[in-house]
Amino acid sequence: MHADIFRMDGKIAVITGAGNGIGRSFALGLSDFGATVICADRNLDGAEETVGLVRQKRGKADSFLVDVADAASVQAMWEKIAADFGRVDALVNNAGISTASNRTHEMSVEDWDRLMAVNMRGVFLNTKYALALMLQSGGGSIVNIASIAGLRGYYPSGPGLVSNYAASKAGVIGFTRQVAAEYARDKIRVNAIAPGWHGGTALGAERRARISAEEAAKFEQGLIQRIPMGHRGVPDDLIGLCVYLASGASHYVTGQVIAHDGGWDGMVV
Ligand SMILES: NC(=O)c1ccc[n+]([C@@H]2O[C@H](COP(=O)([O-])OP(=O)(O)OC[C@H]3O[C@@H](n4cnc5c(N)ncnc54)[C@H](O)[C@@H]3O)[C@@H](O)[C@H]2O)c1
Repeated sequence: MHADIFRMDGKIAVITGAGNGIGRSFALGLSDFGATVICADRNLDGAEETVGLVRQKRGKADSFLVDVADAASVQAMWEKIAADFGRVDALVNNAGISTASNRTHEMSVEDWDRLMAVNMRGVFLNTKYALALMLQSGGGSIVNIASIAGLRGYYPSGPGLVSNYAASKAGVIGFTRQVAAEYARDKIRVNAIAPGWHGGTALGAERRARISAEEAAKFEQGLIQRIPMGHRGVPDDLIGLCVYLASGASHYVTGQVIAHDGGWDGMVV
């Protein structure tokens, strides 16, 4: 019987950015497969809402307030996780932002630094503390949420399809591969998901606030034309891949980057 290979009963999974969007879907999905989910977010109300949704389904969840860009905040969270749970089996580095779109020569230094602090330093900090706990408990799985923006350049640009975001997600991919190589002998696996366009989240809100509804609709139409499947994804579509990578189902898979994008990255349309 192989039906149990995705089960995560008794496992502890930490999901950053679990207070909204894709992170919330990950928390609910991992919980459905038996994991106790730690919903970490700088938006505590959002994280608590996710915990409430998990508990409604009789899952086990806890919320943590964290700013992934802040070293002291991340360290404090992991000290509490170590004290409360004594282990971590899966970390999903999902918290991420995009800034208002600009071409690179117009991009503010503040937008570059602010985005890098969340999308790159945040991934490093949480991985650093998760690795220390995973080494103690004999292994684990880290799933980093990159983007197809980290795989190649796109034009015309839009939320996410700009250079600070693309650089951060390419950085996450390089980080994934190196950490995977360093810790493979320690039974710690590290993989990345590169989502294409998944609607219904708050990502890109800074840009949307600056353009008209007409411009947004035109931009979205343009994107849809490039997706071979002809439609964008929704956050729940990513659950299967996250559970696969976080669970023992993928026990011989590490250092990989898997696009989840309706065929966008793999084809020219
Ligand atoms: N939605 C998409 O189409 C898409 C595509 C590719 C990649 N991604 C990536 O997926 C991840 C989730 O994005 P989403 O679309 O669900 O966005 P979202 O804005 O809906 O959710 C992001 C969550 O992260 C939290 N967060 C942001 N900064 C934080 C910080 N400093 N500390 C702690 N929490 C923080 C937010 O409060 C929010 O709850 C991001 O890494 C994003 O880059 C999304």
